[in-house]
Amino acid sequence: MPPIFHAQLLTILYFLSLSNPSFNICISATTDTNFNKWISWRLNNYHQKYLDRKSPKTIFSKKMSATLDLRLRMAEMNRKEIKVSQDGTGNFKTVTEAIDSVPLYNTRRVLLHISSGIYREKVSIPKTKHFITFIGNAKDPPTITGNDTAATVREGGDGTPLRTFQSATVAVDADYFMAINVKFENTAPHVVGTVGGQAVALRISGTKAAFYNCSFYGSQDTLYDHKGLHFFSNCFIQGSVDFIFGNGTSLYENCYLNSIAKKVASVTAQKRSNSSISSGFSFKNCTITGTGSIYLGRAWGDYSRVVFSYSFMDKIVLPQGWSDWGKKARDQKVYYGEYKCSGPGANLSGRVPWARLLTDEEALPFIGTYYIDGDSWLINPSAYQL
Ligand SMILES: *[C@@H]1O[C@H](CO)[C@@H](O)[C@H](O)[C@H]1NC(C)=O
Ligand SMILES: *[C@@H]1O[C@H](CO)[C@@H](O)[C@H](O)[C@H]1NC(C)=O
Ligand SMILES: *[C@@H]1O[C@H](CO)[C@@H](O)[C@H](O)[C@H]1NC(C)=O
Ligand SMILES: *[C@@H]1O[C@H](CO)[C@@H](O)[C@H](O)[C@H]1NC(C)=O
Ligand SMILES: *[C@@H]1O[C@H](CO)[C@@H](O)[C@H](O)[C@H]1NC(C)=O
Ligand SMILES: *[C@@H]1O[C@H](CO)[C@@H](O)[C@H](O)[C@H]1NC(C)=O
Repeated sequence: MPPIFHAQLLTILYFLSLSNPSFNICISATTDTNFNKWISWRLNNYHQKYLDRKSPKTIFSKKMSATLDLRLRMAEMNRKEIKVSQDGTGNFKTVTEAIDSVPLYNTRRVLLHISSGIYREKVSIPKTKHFITFIGNAKDPPTITGNDTAATVREGGDGTPLRTFQSATVAVDADYFMAINVKFENTAPHVVGTVGGQAVALRISGTKAAFYNCSFYGSQDTLYDHKGLHFFSNCFIQGSVDFIFGNGTSLYENCYLNSIAKKVASVTAQKRSNSSISSGFSFKNCTITGTGSIYLGRAWGDYSRVVFSYSFMDKIVLPQGWSDWGKKARDQKVYYGEYKCSGPGANLSGRVPWARLLTDEEALPFIGTYYIDGDSWLINPSAYQL
């Protein structure tokens, strides 16, 4: 059969396996290791059939690649630009006004150029406003800031606290969101021993979202990587407790993770809750440093999945590496892998026995943009001629 059909068939089989319970039975009947090998084989195959022939740089060259999904291709062929500037020289003075101007069920790529400055706004991009891109100046990125926490009670509201989900300074529920050179911030501090201190800087719940050269500043629960396929490239992420958390399927490449923890905390809290769910965080060529003592991850979901590859780990990483959050039953279910990491925190001799030192084959599914089906939706920022 022609290669393209072969790849598609594999994809279909894969999704069948996720959605069709009878298909699931034959997979879960095999051992966990076989299942992982099977995923690895699938991705390797997919990689050879598709991606080796087309490097990511050429995916969005002059002619748009046929592998980009159709909706996205249509949106990119029909771009629109909007300028936000606090000095009145743009189309709008606030990010919120600019988003309000985007029609419901938007089908065009909207490039929202945000001038340098501090934007004290609670920004929300609803489900119906896809294809929005925030673009800032690389030399002086705009900051979108707030200080809501899970415990904040909104004035004029119904008196109930916001909770973690609603605490986000910027919340994105739409798909195909992008941000380039933007700083997302929540300034509420985490006070050890108090409750309701979760204070999200950005929540991303839409799928096929990418962040380039962005920074995320917060303390407890900085980046809510809620759900969907996400790509973080060259980003700076700072926080104290569980500062990257959620059920996202995400690749973090060349990112700098800075802990400001005051006592033992965790960098990630990934929430994969079922073995048939494909979510998980993959960190490639990242740096983990800062203060406090930190776990690489703690299991929010029973099947929490996190992989670090080619990353530098400073001495603040606890020798045990990973935490089951006090639930022993999770030890055999979580998937916590490390591959070719370096630095004093990457010493494996004190790791919990259920941490995995990945083989080349096991690491493979996690270390390319194919992990997030990137070839169907990733757009190189250079396409926007910034
Ligand atoms: C949170 O931000 C608001 C608006 O900028 C400000 O009025 C308030 O004092 C801040 N609260 C805290 C605790 O910093
Ligand atoms: C991102 O930052 C790097 C330097 O760290 C720079 O070379 C690159 O051009 C930036 N990308 C964009 C899209 O501004
Ligand atoms: C790894 O990350 C560093 C720092 O972000 C960057 O300078 C370097 O080019 C990256 N290496 C690769 C192979 O991407
Ligand atoms: C995973 O989800 C499926 C479908 O909802 C369910 O049948 C199965 O029991 C779940 N497995 C576990 C281990 O929770
Ligand atoms: C978690 O992510 C998976 C894979 O994207 C998705 O199928 C599932 O619905 C998500 N679960 C929740 C509770 O959002
Ligand atoms: C790793 O840690 C062990 C125990 O603390 C120590 O004996 C060993 O020298 C360390 N290895 C490296 C490469 O630092």
